[in-house]
Amino acid sequence: MTKIFVTRDIPDEGLKMLRARPDIEVKVYEENKKIPTGVLRSGVKGADIILSLLTDKIDDGIMRSAGKQLKMIANYAVGFDNIDLEAAKKRGIMVTNARAPEVSETVAEHAVALIFALAHRIVETDDFTRAGKYKGWGPKMFLGVDVMGKTLGIIGGGAIGEALARRMKDGFDLKIIYNDIKPNEKFEKEFGATFMEKDELLKHADFVSLHVPLLPSTHHLIGERELKLMKKSAYIINTSRGPVIDEKALVVALSRGDIAGAGLDVYECEPLIDCDPTDTYDLRKLPNVVLTPHTASASIEARQAMSRACAENILAFLDGKTPPNAVR
Ligand code: GLV
Repeated sequence: MTKIFVTRDIPDEGLKMLRARPDIEVKVYEENKKIPTGVLRSGVKGADIILSLLTDKIDDGIMRSAGKQLKMIANYAVGFDNIDLEAAKKRGIMVTNARAPEVSETVAEHAVALIFALAHRIVETDDFTRAGKYKGWGPKMFLGVDVMGKTLGIIGGGAIGEALARRMKDGFDLKIIYNDIKPNEKFEKEFGATFMEKDELLKHADFVSLHVPLLPSTHHLIGERELKLMKKSAYIINTSRGPVIDEKALVVALSRGDIAGAGLDVYECEPLIDCDPTDTYDLRKLPNVVLTPHTASASIEARQAMSRACAENILAFLDGKTPPNAVR
């Protein structure tokens, strides 16, 4: 019997696939909240496989608590920065993420939503209208900017970056420039995109959207220096991981008008929106930001696809095949 410990209830399609197998026992932490570390430590004991969430820190200690039989960690997320890959490697544990085409499309849609919310000042004007402040039409009231025809700089040319490029090129005729560790032929052929070094991209883009995993090399990829390179009229969008941007530097740049605005789904000290309540750097005080609570992939279609992806990875592994989303 293969024992799987699931650290929180997730959309059911993948769980049904796993439960359909008589040789698998699935145990779910049923509380609708992040599993406390102590409960995680005892819950994983004896598990062959952990199905974890991005909010669970799966470090060497958790792997040790599980025991020597632990063979696999299937992360219910595209990102996998919550897992100590080195420790997993040392212990010979397979790690998978939950990539699925549906998820890339959903996250790209969210990036589009943030871009338009900023350009058309949707949140600011919604607040204004609800507050009863709308007393009559004005020709200069809440002027925003058009998205169409502008330049979109995509940092990270993976599946989500591609899904965003396709939408913005086909739908709104944006010029696409991109940066990645190496040029991506598909970007150039399909979207007429131009590869640029990061600094060049930052100088040219009207909208910069981040789609990189969080790694030591992408931590604070965007800091004070990079924000200064951007146009004063440019916007930055982050649906990747919070620490990819130096948030303090971002608050300073936004307050000074070094850039026009930011659309953020992820935060440096998540779930805190403000890392240090004792200082004055607080994104929530700025009018030119749109903030969402790490919900870029929160469509039922995407979250079910992630559930199925976890199950497919686990079933492939148990059948002796390489899981489709192996990251280690
Ligand atoms: C969400 O952020 C994910 O990595 O799936």
